[in-house]
Amino acid sequence: MNFKLSNINHEELKKWVDEIITLVEPESVYLCNGSAEEYDLMCKTLVKKGSFIKLDEKKWPNSYACFSDPSDVARVEDKTFICCRTKENAGPTNNWMDPREMKETLNGLLKGCMKGRTMYVIPFCMGPLGSPISKIGIEITDSEYVVANMHIMTRVGEQVLQQLGTDGEFVKCLHTVGAPLEKGQEDVKWPCNPTTKYIVHYPEERSIVSYGSGYGGNALLGKKCLALRIASVMGKEEGWLAEHMLILGLEDPKGRKTYVAAAFPSACGKTNFAMLIPPVEFEGWKVTTVGDDIAWIKPAPDGKLYAINPEYGYFGVAPGTNNKTNPNAMKALGKNAIFTNVGVTPDGDIWWEGLTETAPDGVINWQGQKHDPSSGKPVAHPNARFTAPASQCPSIDPDWEKPEGVPIAAFIFGGRRASTVPLVYQAFNWNFGVYLASTIGSEMTAAAFGEIGKVRRDPFAMLPFCGYHMGDYFNHWLQLGRSLPNAPRVFCVNWFRKDKNGKFLWPGFGENMRALKWIVDRVNGDASAVESPIGWMPRYEDMDWQGLDFCRHDFEVIMEVDREAWKNEIAQQEELFLMMYDKLPKEFIFMRELLLSQLWRSPEHWGLQPEVV
Ligand code: OXD
Ligand code: MN
Repeated sequence: MNFKLSNINHEELKKWVDEIITLVEPESVYLCNGSAEEYDLMCKTLVKKGSFIKLDEKKWPNSYACFSDPSDVARVEDKTFICCRTKENAGPTNNWMDPREMKETLNGLLKGCMKGRTMYVIPFCMGPLGSPISKIGIEITDSEYVVANMHIMTRVGEQVLQQLGTDGEFVKCLHTVGAPLEKGQEDVKWPCNPTTKYIVHYPEERSIVSYGSGYGGNALLGKKCLALRIASVMGKEEGWLAEHMLILGLEDPKGRKTYVAAAFPSACGKTNFAMLIPPVEFEGWKVTTVGDDIAWIKPAPDGKLYAINPEYGYFGVAPGTNNKTNPNAMKALGKNAIFTNVGVTPDGDIWWEGLTETAPDGVINWQGQKHDPSSGKPVAHPNARFTAPASQCPSIDPDWEKPEGVPIAAFIFGGRRASTVPLVYQAFNWNFGVYLASTIGSEMTAAAFGEIGKVRRDPFAMLPFCGYHMGDYFNHWLQLGRSLPNAPRVFCVNWFRKDKNGKFLWPGFGENMRALKWIVDRVNGDASAVESPIGWMPRYEDMDWQGLDFCRHDFEVIMEVDREAWKNEIAQQEELFLMMYDKLPKEFIFMRELLLSQLWRSPEHWGLQPEVV
């Protein structure tokens, strides 16, 4: 036992750790210092248990792979709870339980839950140490996998405790795999509780309890639990935003840098967009990455919004990532990485669908069996992940750790829509942007989520991550806009529109640069646009097409605003709005009316007069 409570000088922290020790009854307790030796110790312990496979040192330096339990492969939204005092505050899109009732249930489960295991205490900081936007958390966990991943995903260690001082604020994050070990009982490779899982947030207390899962957002509590669900509540109370957004910088050939933040629902290529490499024709243009998943955004005295990436690494989806779709991610994950649920070859190489054309001979699939190509089973789980340090990304922005953050000039909202939504357009104003952002969504591609083809609304891509009533969240955005003298412009994009034969109209990936450039030119007053019923749109000549065979006709198809489809769209949006009628901003009613009345105007009114810039 290396741990002494006396190592901690913070009374409240000491008391909490003490209480947890009594409750969970661990065999030993370990206070994490964040060192490289500690990371190695975790990895070695996991290799010894058979949980980690050390990869070939030449191909994948200092990297490991592991397979999770088949019951533990993704976030468990149906077991995720917001336990604030009233159900009304959690809103209709969150699971809610009375905090007292939840605590009773959890205390029953937590009693003795770390028996036979080491309890790790991880002091971590979300955001650069010393940034006025950062927040400190303490995660208690009984999983070495979590400790190792937290080392990559957050800033861990002694400096965090120093920063916390004797009375600083911190978020209490308690995690257990929910699999105590009896005396002499051998551990399994991926301990978890196959039947009982709970991911619970107490926003008023700023605390989190996660039981039964060892995977990703369920267990690395700094990410979705703290940086989004708890932080969204802090942001609402303190006047800032915790968003499910990437942050990127676009530098033009003259060296002018413009930062944007962008929200996309899961599985829309967010990491690829954050690390975009412009087509060769865009000589002198550069995309730099500040963050790929989460942004904390605060108004500053100069009236602008500044953003930091609270994370320190990437927890990206592996399948589909390759040297064509995302060369920067491939370099970021090339060393010092952890791979979860990808395929592994007997000689210490790894593989996932899309990495190369065909799976290597003899590859072991994520369920630990030799891959049988005739089985139709994938090698990697579709939600297989890489954990990699952000600092290894070649496109990392030089200011990504700047304590004051980077100034945000535009917000971009996307979704996966086969029809209706054009490639790119600009909201008429902030309020209209908030309205559009609240209606984004993706068409369902897997029956597991509902009727295939139906749009699953995901307002601001925050539906699973907003720690309070979504209607209040919309109001918070509107309120913030009122306080900004020159609010960032708001844009919508859709990379996924299809033609009548079901073929994607847009090449995507690096070519998304063309829409991004128009957006950035727009905010800098360098591009024109025409008014359409749904916002400002580029004309064909307003975008840069050099090097891409994309004719005027293709452009008209991908930009079409089909009035009937939009009327239908508005009717469908009502389903979401009716659900949150009790707190829906009154502005939304007017925005909807504006949209409808625009759609009713005769087409001849549109697109004739470009706005002069
Ligand atoms: C993620 C998600 O894992 O959004 O980042 O689902
Ligand atoms: Mn995400």
